[in-house]
Amino acid sequence: MLMDATRSKLKQGRGVIEQYREYLPVSESTPIVSLDEGDTPLIYSSRLSKRIGRGCDVFVKNEGINPTCSFKDRGMTLAVSKAMEGKANAIICASTGNTSASAAAYAARAGISCVVILPAGKIASGKLLQAFACGAKIVAIDGNFDDALRIVREISERDDFIVVNSINPNRIAGQKTAAFEIVDVMGDAPDFHLLPLGNAGNITAYWTGYRQYQSRQRSTKLPAMIGFQAACAAPIFHDRIINKPETIASAIRIGNPASWKQARAAIAESSGAVDIIPDEEIVAAQIWLARHEGILVEPASAAAIAGFFKCCNSQEAAYSFKEIPEGRRIVCTVTGHGLKDPDVIMQRMGRVEPVAATVNDVRRAIGL
Ligand code: F0G
Repeated sequence: MLMDATRSKLKQGRGVIEQYREYLPVSESTPIVSLDEGDTPLIYSSRLSKRIGRGCDVFVKNEGINPTCSFKDRGMTLAVSKAMEGKANAIICASTGNTSASAAAYAARAGISCVVILPAGKIASGKLLQAFACGAKIVAIDGNFDDALRIVREISERDDFIVVNSINPNRIAGQKTAAFEIVDVMGDAPDFHLLPLGNAGNITAYWTGYRQYQSRQRSTKLPAMIGFQAACAAPIFHDRIINKPETIASAIRIGNPASWKQARAAIAESSGAVDIIPDEEIVAAQIWLARHEGILVEPASAAAIAGFFKCCNSQEAAYSFKEIPEGRRIVCTVTGHGLKDPDVIMQRMGRVEPVAATVNDVRRAIGL
């Protein structure tokens, strides 16, 4: 272990617990399990800003730039640190992929075991690879995420596991640090915050963070929280459990979110909205963001960008930016890296056929 002085000499990031210790349930004796998560880029997008016009500024909070390439690491550092404080030997989670990748990595770092329960055949290949490589015990079920979470709850009642899904309050507490970072960089809270909704932990966490910062006078206002679900996996939008949720955005293929009530409260208290995005628009937004800003995100994350376009363009949007006052600031969180889920784009890409290794052949292939 490096001494603190050495770490700061090396100018390493300190991780979200060290950065925001006073806002988190840790003490001097909590062993910190960190991979230097957080401090992710908040990227100004002139092209997205132009879409909305009226002197508004749009930023992309790129949570794919975390140790396991998703926002889950913010909550996992705290959940695993607290598990270690309580002398736990094992953690368990249900997952659509990213939670399992993060849990596996932090468990490896802590030296404890990790069990992940996943819907069979519905996990993006990069995420499965992460959980496998980090040594998690992987159990695939013939069922969806909601079934997996039900099983995890029951197992943790009987056996000696700490659940690291967002029903563990430490996950939410860690994830709220993303809101702190945004305010710290922007100098105040944004006017609107757009993000994808799955199990609804992240919207709950952001809203907690924004409110906490405002109550400590770190910001003067609160954003309207606008969440986006995939059209055929939209329980919060339709206000009913979806028994067979389906979407290409496998990370948010959830029909009965654990933080449903908290998400509803965040949306109501912030005068925000929840809306739905069809799969074709999710994929189109994913490709748009890669081609226009060089930011490759996974499909679930692209729901926030597709949602932004819907707010700008559509009469049917649950929230319209048409009449938005001048100079408003909007943040879209993109939650996970595109390399986690290469298959969706690979299928559209087709094969790149090799040509002869001559200048003439290569010039012809370029179209010169
Ligand atoms: N985006 C990505 C990339 C996700 O992995 C998730 C959730 C969400 C958005 C939705 O966030 O659940 O807090 O509303 N993934 C969980 C998992 C369910 O198991 O990895 P949420």
